[in-house]
Amino acid sequence: MSSFPHHRPRRLRRTAALRNLFRETHLAPSQLVLPVFVRAGQKLRRAVDSMPGVNQTSVDEMLRDAEAAAKAGVGGVILFGVPDAKDATGSGGWDDNGAVQSGVRALKKELPDLVVITDVCMCEYTDHGHCGVLRDGEVDNDATLELLSRCAVSHARAGADIVAPSDMMDGRVRAIRNALDTDGFSGVSILSYAAKYASAYYGPFREAAESTPKSGDRRGYQMDPGNSLEAMREVLADIEEGADAVMVKPAGPYLDIVARVKDETGYPVAAYQVSGEYAMICAAGERGWIDRERVMMESLLGIRRAGADLIVTYFATEAAQALPTK
Ligand code: PBG
Ligand code: ZN
Repeated sequence: MSSFPHHRPRRLRRTAALRNLFRETHLAPSQLVLPVFVRAGQKLRRAVDSMPGVNQTSVDEMLRDAEAAAKAGVGGVILFGVPDAKDATGSGGWDDNGAVQSGVRALKKELPDLVVITDVCMCEYTDHGHCGVLRDGEVDNDATLELLSRCAVSHARAGADIVAPSDMMDGRVRAIRNALDTDGFSGVSILSYAAKYASAYYGPFREAAESTPKSGDRRGYQMDPGNSLEAMREVLADIEEGADAVMVKPAGPYLDIVARVKDETGYPVAAYQVSGEYAMICAAGERGWIDRERVMMESLLGIRRAGADLIVTYFATEAAQALPTK
C-alpha cells in the first residue's frame, strides 16, 4: 500500500455519494427479525416497562405489530409465549392451543410471506423459571430433551418455518431434528441458539416473558462469558447435530464470537441484540445522552459487519422503516 501523500483515504469520504459507493457492509430490512411476546386473550397490549415500545400482546394485537413489520420489509418474527398458567414441567409449551401455536397459525394465514420463527424453551412455562425440568435442584439435561422436542413439534404442526431452541441443553438439536423428522416435518429448519451466554443483558426480557428463575441462575447451562473456544465447540456440535443456522447471543458484547463463528464455519449466522442492549440505547436516548436512531443503526451495522447474516432485534420495525428504500 502506497503511503501519504500518494495515498489519501479521505478522497473516498468526501461526499455522501462516494461513501455510499464504497461502503462495505449494508443493512437491509429483510435481515432483521422482530421478537414478539404473545399471550392468551383478545385486544390485549401490556407495555413492558424496561423495554419502551415492546409489549406483551394477544394474537390479534401481535398480528398488527407483525403487519407493520412486514410492511417495513422486516424478514421475520420470533415468537415467545407468556402463558397464564405454569407447572413443574412446563407442559403449556407443547399445548397445540397455546398462545404461540395460535399466533403461528394466524401469522401463516394473514402474512404467509413473513418468516415465522418460534423460540423453543421451557423457562416461560415452568413454575420455577428454569429452562428445563428440575431434579435435585438441578436442570436435568436428558429429561428435558423430550419436552423440548414436544414443543418444537407442536410449533411445527402450527406452521412454524423455523424452530429456535434457546435452552442450552446438550443434544437438543439432535433430539429436536429427530422428533421433527419422525413427525413429518423434515422441511422445518432449526436455528439453534448455539453460543448463548449466561448474560446480565437478559434482565428486561425476563420481565417481558415473565421467566425469571425463582431460585438460582442459568450459569449451570448457559455459557461462561469468558469463553470463545467453547463457543466454537458448541457451534460445531449443533451443526453436526443438524442445525441449519446458528445464533450468537447477546450480540454487541460478543462480536468477536459472531466473527469467529462466521469465519470458521461459513454457516448462516444470526445474532440476537438482546433486551439489555435495547434498553440501554433507549434509556440513554431518552435522556438525550446519545442519538437513539444513529446508535440503533450503528449497533446493527456493527453486528452485520462482524459477520451476522441476520439480526434478531427489538428495533427491527423502527430500523426497517428508517432504512433507505432504494
Ligand atoms: C429463554 C430466552 C431468553 C432470551 C431469549 N430466550 C432469556 C434467558 O435465557 O434468560 C433473552 C432475550 C433477550 O434478553 O432479549 N431461554
Ligand atoms: Zn429458557
